[in-house]
Parts: sequence; structure tokens; C-alpha cells
Amino acid sequence: MSDKATLEINGKKYEFPIVIGSENEVAIDIKNLRGDTGGVITIDPGYKNTGSCESAITFLDGEKGILRYRGYSIEELAEKADFLEVAYLLIFGELPTQDELYQFHSDIKKHSVVDDDVKKILDAFPKSAHPMGVLASLTSALTAFNPSSVNVDSEEEMYNAIVRILGKFPILVAWTMRKKHGMPLDYGSSSLGYVENILHMMFKRPNEDYTQNKILINALDKLLILHADHEQNCSTSTVRITGSSHAGLFVSLSAGISALWGPLHGGANQAVLEMLEAIKEDGGDTKKYMAKAKDKDDPFRLMGFGHRVYKNFDPRAKIIKAAADEVLSDLGVDDPILDIAKGLEKEALEDQYFVDRKLYPNVDFYSGIIYRAMGIPTEMFTVMFALGRLPGWISQWREMRMRKEPIGRPRQLYTGETYRPFKDISKR
Ligand code: SDX
Repeated sequence: MSDKATLEINGKKYEFPIVIGSENEVAIDIKNLRGDTGGVITIDPGYKNTGSCESAITFLDGEKGILRYRGYSIEELAEKADFLEVAYLLIFGELPTQDELYQFHSDIKKHSVVDDDVKKILDAFPKSAHPMGVLASLTSALTAFNPSSVNVDSEEEMYNAIVRILGKFPILVAWTMRKKHGMPLDYGSSSLGYVENILHMMFKRPNEDYTQNKILINALDKLLILHADHEQNCSTSTVRITGSSHAGLFVSLSAGISALWGPLHGGANQAVLEMLEAIKEDGGDTKKYMAKAKDKDDPFRLMGFGHRVYKNFDPRAKIIKAAADEVLSDLGVDDPILDIAKGLEKEALEDQYFVDRKLYPNVDFYSGIIYRAMGIPTEMFTVMFALGRLPGWISQWREMRMRKEPIGRPRQLYTGETYRPFKDISKR
């Protein structure tokens, strides 16, 4: 492999370095393109062919369906690690020792409270507010109560901001759900595990003791691990570019939450359940929805299918599909929606339109079925995605800031009006 790429423009040749990643991916370094060529830039809508950064956090191979966090396979992590271990791995680069994990969790617990005035902000929202909008607002509002976590220029400040948000975010998630259901806000208990406490805060009823259910804890732990990072997806790129202006960690995360909300991204897990419900209401008529998905005049897409990078099975979808069977049978839940989902998947995988476009189930296709079996309302599904993605966003933001990367500011190709003199209103 040559270490240079040559570009010829108007008969003149320009050379650019070729950089090779640790998994032998090849990139052309064009940081001097505009300067060397006197103004030529590249155009790549949706950045389908453009790398925004080098990163050492997550590797995925869309053709082979491979996903690894800091070199560890998603299959092994989902099977053998817990969510807080994976959070530590993503953020600091290594799996923690027993002592490091214990210290990490106790530092997080120290911050597992939020200023009582946050409740006043939450109270101001109508119950009809979508939980993702509430969560994005409350996360941004945290800066007002934790200003010290805005400018992080030292490892210690960075660490404090990280344990602070890992302590407070699950509270915001739980309170967002409880607000919607008119339930009193609950803090859980520092005697519980990280994921146990999340379930306690979400589901504890004021007049009853809350009994932990190992099946729910393991199911949520696995789902959060599977959602924890995914390299430069839409919301992570949003977190990175927001932080590149040196905006604080909390507001950068809030921007990521907003990007994740979109139905083409994390909002798809809610859209999948709504789609499956609609198919069920239609008597399970999957053929009608397959036809809609292929009809270019119909904006409908088969939610939970397709992916910008995976042109093979999303490895997370495979794990979640297997977990769905396990969790539902452990919980004794017989949900016809799961059968509809499996039928739809089978049909799509045999349909030429989907085969030609390499459209496979993605992470969002089966996750909602488990969330629903756990008693989590559909509107909260994308909030659960954000809860899982939090350590990934933090790790990517930290990497960008610790590497002192420049502010993100893409160029454009202007295709509007050329110069024209101002026209007085009387002449328009
Ligand atoms: C996530 O990037 C990440 O890593 C994201 C994520 C993460 O962990 O962060 O993995 C999480 O966002 C998963 C994706 C969830 N979204 C959905 O399930 C929504 C449905 N899927 C699509 O809208 C779509 O597949 C995207 C947005 C996911 C990817 O879109 P691309 O890469 O821009 O592809 P495209 O829109 O150019 O589609 C290529 C072709 C088109 O047809 P043609 O114009 O070639 O004829 O495939 C078709 C599309 O119409 N197509 C679909 C389809 N997805 C793509 N047709 C029907 N149903 C679909 N779901």
C-alpha cells in the first residue's frame, strides 16, 4: 500500500498522505487539500465517506458485523461484564480492577443526588412532554447547578465531571418517567448496584417495598452495554462537535440527547414498537408494511431496519433478539409483538429490495420488545438508549478534549445567487 494518494485537478497532480488505522482501515489525510489546491474542498452529504477524527474507543466493521469497545468484543462484554465496568473501559481505556471499579462506583454515589431546584424545572413541564425533550433540558440545566464541571482542563476536573454526570443522569432518567406517571420522585439507595438503583428509582411505588428482580437487572445491564458506544454516529458526532467549541460536558451531552431523539437514529426504538403495534392492529398484515417500505412515494420506512455502517447483521441486534426470547420467557410474558417482529424480519431478509440494499435489523429492532416486557413505557425507550449511550458520549467527548482537537467547522459548496445589487422595495 503506497503511503501517498495522488489527486489530479486541471492537469496538476497533488499528493496527500495515506494513514492506516490499527485495524488496517485506510484514510486519505486531506487536512491540507484546500491550502495546497488554492481552495478545492470535498463534498460528502451525511459524511458517508468522511472520517471526522481518529479515535481509539470503538471499532466496528459494517461488512463483517463486528463491534468492539477498546478491543473487547461486544459479545464477550455483553456476556461477561457489567455496565459500570464497560463504562469505565470506554472512558478510561482499560477494564477496571476490583478496587478501581469499587472506587469508581463510590465516587459516582457521592454525586447521586441533584439540587432540589431541579424538581422545579421538572414540575414546569406538562405531563404530555416527550421524555427526551425533558431529559435534554434537565441535562443542560445541570450546568447551572454544577458550574465547576463546565471547563475541564485537568484529569482531576475531568474525572469529577464524569462521576458527577454518571451519578446524576440516572436520577434525571427516573424522574422523567415518574413525572409522566404522576409518581413522587425517588432517589433509590446508595446500598444498591448501579443498574439495580436505576430500576429502583424508576419503579419503586411509594406505598410498597421494591423487590429487585434479577432478570430485569441482567436484562437492563445487557441492553445498556449494547448501547454504550458506536463510534461516530449522529448523536456522538453532535457531542464531539458541541464540545469542540469548549462548551461544557453537560450541555454537549444535552445536544447529543436531542440528536438521538430523531426517529432515524435512537428514536427508531420507539418507532419500531409503534410500527409493530400498527401491524398487529392491522391483523398482522406485514406484507402491507413491507410494500409501504418499498414504495418510493411513501415516506414510511421499516423502522429498526437498515444502517449507515452495518451492511450485515448488527451484532447487537443478534444479541438482543436472543435476549428477547430469554427475558420474555423468564418473565412469563407472551407478547405477540415478538412473533410479528420475527415474521417481519424473516420476510425482509428474503425480500430482494432489502437484500439488494443490505438492510438488516439494527439495534433498535428488538430492544423495545424487552423494554416493554420490563414495564418501561414506549415513550421512554429512547431515554433508555441515551442512558446506555452516556458512557460512550462521555468517552468520545473526553478523547476529543484531551487531544485538544480544533473546533469543528465544516466548509460548504455555495450554490446560491451570485452578487446582485440591493433592490429598493418600490422596485420589487
Ligand atoms: C441507530 O450510526 C449509528 O451507529 C446509529 C446507531 C448507534 O448505535 O448509534 O446504530 C443507532 O440509529 C440505528 C438506526 C435506527 N434507524 C432506523 O431503524 C430507521 C430506519 N432506517 C433508515 O432510515 C436508514 O436505514 C438509516 C437512517 C439507518 C441509514 O440510512 P442511510 O445510511 O442514509 O441509507 P439511505 O437512507 O441512503 O438508504 C439506502 C437505500 C435507500 O433506497 P434507494 O434510494 O437506494 O432506493 O435503502 C433504503 C433507502 O430508501 N432504506 C430503507 C430503509 N433504510 C434504508 N428502505 C426501507 N426501510 C428502511 N428502514
